[in-house]
Amino acid sequence: MRIPFICGNWKMYKTKEEAAAFAAAFRKLYEEADTDIRAAICAPFTQLDTLKEAFAGTSIGVGAQNVHFADEGAYTGEISAAMLQEIGVDYCIVGHSERRQYFGETDDTVNLKLKKLFDATDITPILCVGENLEQREAGLAEAVVGGQLVTDLAGISADKAVGLVIAYEPVWAIGTGKTAMPEQAEEMCAFIRGVLEGLYGEYVCDQIIIQYGGSVKPENAGEIMNMDEIDGALVGGASLDPEKFMEIISF
Ligand code: 13P
Repeated sequence: MRIPFICGNWKMYKTKEEAAAFAAAFRKLYEEADTDIRAAICAPFTQLDTLKEAFAGTSIGVGAQNVHFADEGAYTGEISAAMLQEIGVDYCIVGHSERRQYFGETDDTVNLKLKKLFDATDITPILCVGENLEQREAGLAEAVVGGQLVTDLAGISADKAVGLVIAYEPVWAIGTGKTAMPEQAEEMCAFIRGVLEGLYGEYVCDQIIIQYGGSVKPENAGEIMNMDEIDGALVGGASLDPEKFMEIISF
């Protein structure tokens, strides 16, 4: 059975002080709710240690939003997998559409990053895939997402892939207030599971958590989470507020 997993992605928001205030408020709400739903926050690098400390002794996870694929080297501004491991990070987003769009992330670099996380750390990667509006309107959504998965996961064995989280984030639904219809999201998540079954077989594809991301908020979390093939959500804007984020978790 897959345990639902709801993860916040703060993107480039929150100072240390704001992160600490969020963490104290959210920890209290999460503990009071006594829920079985897994929760985590992917924060800017400089706030990761604050969150690790604030969530110590709870099951609330902490994640990074990016990693470099090299062990070390002359890569100004980058952070290695070992550096994330050193501060006890639990998750790392890889291949978010904003990194693909603004920072030159390609399926080949996504693949190298996933391999590094799997080989060098016990950090769980959250692999983001998704089509843009033009691709969806041209009827290419499945071809695009299928192609991303095949290249992103090339050379990654089934025993590693079993620990993966995948986030289906249609680019046209991110930060736009336009959520995919729950049925649309379900259809693509089912398609993704089919691709995973083709790559890794039924047992592995049954274990992999598939999240939906794109304008998830308290008002629509229930209908999204009630879909069979959707095991969780990757939440941007609505994860910045502890009450709203907790409402999503309590869908
Ligand atoms: P929003 O929830 O703000 O649309 O962002 C989604 C997202 O990109 C999560 O990674």
